[in-house]
Amino acid sequence: MREDEVATWVSNAHKAFNTARDLDQLKTARLAHAGDKSPIALASRGLGALSPDEKARFGKIIGDAKTAIASFLASATSALEAVRDSKILLEEIVDVTLPSNRSHRGGLHPISIMRNEISDFFIEQGYSVEEGPEMESGWLNFDALNVPADHPARTMQDTFFLEPLESGIVLRTQTSPVQIRTMLTSQPPIYIISPGRTFRADELDATHSPVFHQVEGLVVDRAITMAHLKGTLDTFAQAMFGPGVTTRLRPSFFPFTEPSAEVDVFFNNRWIEWGGCGMVNPKVLQTCGIDTEIYSGFAFGMGIERTLMVRHGVKDMHDIVEGDLRFTRQFGVGL
Ligand code: DAH
Repeated sequence: MREDEVATWVSNAHKAFNTARDLDQLKTARLAHAGDKSPIALASRGLGALSPDEKARFGKIIGDAKTAIASFLASATSALEAVRDSKILLEEIVDVTLPSNRSHRGGLHPISIMRNEISDFFIEQGYSVEEGPEMESGWLNFDALNVPADHPARTMQDTFFLEPLESGIVLRTQTSPVQIRTMLTSQPPIYIISPGRTFRADELDATHSPVFHQVEGLVVDRAITMAHLKGTLDTFAQAMFGPGVTTRLRPSFFPFTEPSAEVDVFFNNRWIEWGGCGMVNPKVLQTCGIDTEIYSGFAFGMGIERTLMVRHGVKDMHDIVEGDLRFTRQFGVGL
């Protein structure tokens, strides 16, 4: 073993590491110049056969050489890794401005989004959401709600009657019959809303549709007053139209409430008619077997189309009914 031989191994290793063009070539060079069978490894293993003096001298020479080779290898490795990384960055570059090829999977209609929003709001307030059938008995849709037999709303012009006519079944003209269904099947305290589809024999025009949606609210409990109704409507209006929005009540008439009122909401600097409300008529409570000495209640009903149209400045009911994606997509998918 000669000292200059060791120096040659070191410089060969240095050269080989520096000329490797990628990590694969570097691996081959590493095996040749620093692997188990490399001259330096063999020399290292041969140290044992030397005399103590020579062992000490060459031990140091070989140790230094190994350190030098290891550091050449380390710097060649990090240089080639950097080259590889920047190549990957370039090759795998993503152009985020390219048009997407993701298909539109569909979403909820704006009316459904709003119905869910209303339900979420009332569920947060502790109400439950009730449903009733769209084909409803005339008794529940009218009589039990104190709508007399000769009320104009019952005539052929307003109501869709189902055949055979003797069945007395109608397409519900309002969600109010769900009030009756709830009071007939459960005991106060009652806190419910009932959003759903309603039907009237109207022509489709800018503000009417023969199929539309309402949300009904009903509370029956001890000592319920109009103040509770007003507070509920204000909070509901704020949830729908924004913080700070207020409502006002105008005296009106509905057969199932006494007193009754129209609710207006102050939105975009003007009063807008929003729905109807009132204290549940004791006659209606009594029809449902509720003790009016103990309980009182309030009710309200709003059009969901109307709420959507007011809130978003939708001018034409056709946009809501036709399902044109250019319209509906503006409201998001609502899933
Ligand atoms: N059902 C009524 C309508 O369709 C709306 C309504 C008014 C509902 C007053 C109510 C109420 O619960 O208290 O015109």
